[in-house]
Amino acid sequence: MRITTLSENTAGKRPKGLLAEYGLSILVETDEQKILFDTGQNISVVHNAPLLGIDLRDLDVIVLSHGHYDHTGGLKQVLEETGEIEVIAHPDIFKRRYAKHENSKTPIGIPYAKTELEDAGAKFRFSEEPTTIGDITITGKVERRTDFEKIDATLYVEEGDELKEDELLDDQALVIKTDRGLFVILGCAHRGMINTIEQAKRITGEDKIYGVIGGTHLVAADKLQMEETVKALKAYKIQRIGVSHCTGPQASARLADEFGDRFFYNNAGSAIELE
Ligand SMILES: [Fe+2]
Ligand SMILES: [Fe+2]
Repeated sequence: MRITTLSENTAGKRPKGLLAEYGLSILVETDEQKILFDTGQNISVVHNAPLLGIDLRDLDVIVLSHGHYDHTGGLKQVLEETGEIEVIAHPDIFKRRYAKHENSKTPIGIPYAKTELEDAGAKFRFSEEPTTIGDITITGKVERRTDFEKIDATLYVEEGDELKEDELLDDQALVIKTDRGLFVILGCAHRGMINTIEQAKRITGEDKIYGVIGGTHLVAADKLQMEETVKALKAYKIQRIGVSHCTGPQASARLADEFGDRFFYNNAGSAIELE
């Protein structure tokens, strides 16, 4: 099994010419299937794929971690390559989302209408429950069980005429069972990195955690969340931590310091082989 990051806020050294774009997109390839998890913000996935030797026309399914623009904005361009393809997501992905600042709000939802994507070939399959595709499980709605992981308070969702704090019910991750334990691929982990890993354990019945990559949203973590997250990751005896995207420089530095050579920054061009 091969996991290749097609788009991230930063780009790796090789191959030359990779584009970085604020967002995330990760390809999981097994002998049987090719799953694209998120599509980046805009042009980077279709630009980077051929440089990484990936033909997007070979994709079998697209999974969306949540409805934010930085994970879904490249979907239209990807559909132009794939044509008709199944797209698995939580039913809330089309809700209108905003980031609120003191006197302004920025739209941060999926930048397309559902019909526009369907016309481009998307065959949506909506589910709040865990979904299994071959060797890979999609977590479905992540239960929030830790008391130290809070949802980013700057994020809002439109409900009727009102803007409400966004619970990000659509936020989900991919889980791969390996011989060494679970390998979890996060989108933004808005409902908590540890909540997401715990959900992966519950739905697979596997307790060992081998690794985690992707967006951790630790950029918004307070001191307590950071301490408790490090403690939990250590308790898992996790072997690989490849952070991306919404982890932020402080949390990345802290995890690098705590986990040494088990830590890496997972950016565009990063590739991991799993057994
Ligand atoms: Fe997000
Ligand atoms: Fe994000």
